[in-house]
Amino acid sequence: MQKKPRLLVTRHMPVNVTARIRRDYDATLNSTDRIMSPEELVSAAEGMDAMMICGSEKITPALLDALPDSVRIIATFSVGYEHIDVAAAKAHGVTVTNTPKVLDAAVAEVAMLCLLGAARRGHEGQTLVREGKWASWTSTMLLGKQVSGARLGILGLGGIGQAVAAAARGFGMQVHYHNRNRLPQDEESGARYHATAAELFAVSDFLSISCPSTDETRGMVNADLIGQMPDGAVIVNTARGDIINDGDLIAALESGKLFAAGLDVFANEPKLDPRYRTMENVFVLPHLGSASVETRDAMGYCCLDNLDAFFQGKPCLTPL
Ligand code: 8YV
Repeated sequence: MQKKPRLLVTRHMPVNVTARIRRDYDATLNSTDRIMSPEELVSAAEGMDAMMICGSEKITPALLDALPDSVRIIATFSVGYEHIDVAAAKAHGVTVTNTPKVLDAAVAEVAMLCLLGAARRGHEGQTLVREGKWASWTSTMLLGKQVSGARLGILGLGGIGQAVAAAARGFGMQVHYHNRNRLPQDEESGARYHATAAELFAVSDFLSISCPSTDETRGMVNADLIGQMPDGAVIVNTARGDIINDGDLIAALESGKLFAAGLDVFANEPKLDPRYRTMENVFVLPHLGSASVETRDAMGYCCLDNLDAFFQGKPCLTPL
């Protein structure tokens, strides 16, 4: 019988994914789920053929230099891959795969949760009820910003952006978007294209960020772009926290330029800018975008499908 490939799994995985890992691989698991230091990662990778990692593991050129040559493939349990230097991995002959598409629907659900939570004052409403401060109904209590009929700008109409667009249409929103390149018309589903981010922001009563974090997008949502938005707009972020300039967003939320923000992701997670914790007009979640049972299984299976293909000498399904 052929020997099973040796797989280092750097974080704890859902039960169904773990069962498949145990069945098909000679696996080293991280039952404590503690995030390993680069030194610990290198030492744990000794003798491994493959690694299954998460966004918590930074695959830098230095780490790739130090990794044992036996590691030939790294499958990341994430669609985002800003934590991996893919060019350096390729230079080392290491294949890298991610998990696109399988989490589009789940992240779009959380984008709508953030959008609705921000627009309809979810945080303040929850606080009133939970802290026993809800004295009586009044016709002007916690009035929000209506979503139906409003314009939603999507920054980055990829798979997740398109799923957000479909959900938003269900709420009667008019969808606009900006990408570096316009999509073919059949993929736009009626969304209106804007050639620049500034043009998109200018028509966005609501703005949802769905683009990856890259050198071009890091810090992009700043005072300039926010200043172009209609007064009382709402910003939603389910992509990466560092796309937003926190100081500029907080200033706009404090001045009333923005009505609210709904944020599932933050720069420096989990050590977010502490001001977000106490702002009434910010609806926050702890990076739950892909956190459904179905999607986390699908992400794990996507990693394993890639690893299976690799070790069977077939092309990976979703290589980077
Ligand atoms: C994950 C994500 O929760 O897939 C991504 O890029 O941001 C999230 O869905 C996380 O990164 C898992 O590693």
